[in-house]
Amino acid sequence: MMVPSAILTVMETLPIGIFDSGLGGLTVAREIARTLPDEHIVYLGDTARCPYGPRDLAEVRRFVLEIGTWLEQVPVKLMVIACNTATAAGLALAQETFDVPVIGVVEPGARAAVRATVNRSVGVIGTVGTIESGAYSRAVRALDAGVTVFSVATPKFVDVVEAGLRMGPGTFEEWAAESSEVFIRPAFHEMARGYLDPLKRSGIDTLVLGCTHFPLMQAAIQQVVGSRVRLISSAEETAREVAETLQSRGHLADPGTTGSPNRFFTTGDPAEFARLGSRVLRERISGVEQVSLDELTALPSAERLALLDDHRMEDPVCG
Ligand code: DGL
Repeated sequence: MMVPSAILTVMETLPIGIFDSGLGGLTVAREIARTLPDEHIVYLGDTARCPYGPRDLAEVRRFVLEIGTWLEQVPVKLMVIACNTATAAGLALAQETFDVPVIGVVEPGARAAVRATVNRSVGVIGTVGTIESGAYSRAVRALDAGVTVFSVATPKFVDVVEAGLRMGPGTFEEWAAESSEVFIRPAFHEMARGYLDPLKRSGIDTLVLGCTHFPLMQAAIQQVVGSRVRLISSAEETAREVAETLQSRGHLADPGTTGSPNRFFTTGDPAEFARLGSRVLRERISGVEQVSLDELTALPSAERLALLDDHRMEDPVCG
């Protein structure tokens, strides 16, 4: 089908849509903003329904459909699912449903890990939803069937980051490095060792931070796993994929365009999102807008909702 050239021109000026269960996806947003400074971003943090990690994959998939439909109406030229749990649950559905490219964070993380590992033993930590979905094992195997993946769900790390975000001023990493109020506690080390020692014993040389919250506690995780284990965050690789995808389609914003400002939305409390989000993004966020859950849940058409049933068949049967 021929696309009128006027539409192609408009595409370049549209924002990149990014979403996550809350604030963690801002670690991906900040990398995209650094890699593509001429682009503008529309970010939605579904804080009211955070965390996604302990939820049923089918429920998270519905959230992906709702938020993707919302971003479609903005409109955006590309969507990034900046949440591993949501990527594991709904990337395939989103790619089938929406006309714009949809990029998740699992494949980029797997690719960076396969590139980094020397002994071909890779660890993955993430939420229960991400780990139980087997998404990382599948993604790594698709890239190199000779790499062995050792996965551990580390849900308490999400709680630690969430608690840390509510403490202290400055960027999250500055706070974590300087005050270490959470990380120097013996209870933290005991909990982290409980999760990470089995991975260390399996001889991994590379560990994927398979949750967008975890790059914020990278220093603490590195301390526990030791300096010989290389930590991988999918943010950089995801940003590269976004840049390549836009470039190959001719949809990159023109260099030097003043562009529109980035916009931030939350399903939770806008003031809290602005305060905590600024600590993650490392720049001040203001004018956060609220999207109601009633609005989001009413968006997908019956036809789109029917797609959820087809995808339910793909979920791993646990227990
Ligand atoms: N940011 C989410 C992820 O990457 C984790 C937080 C949550 O459980 O919602 O999986």
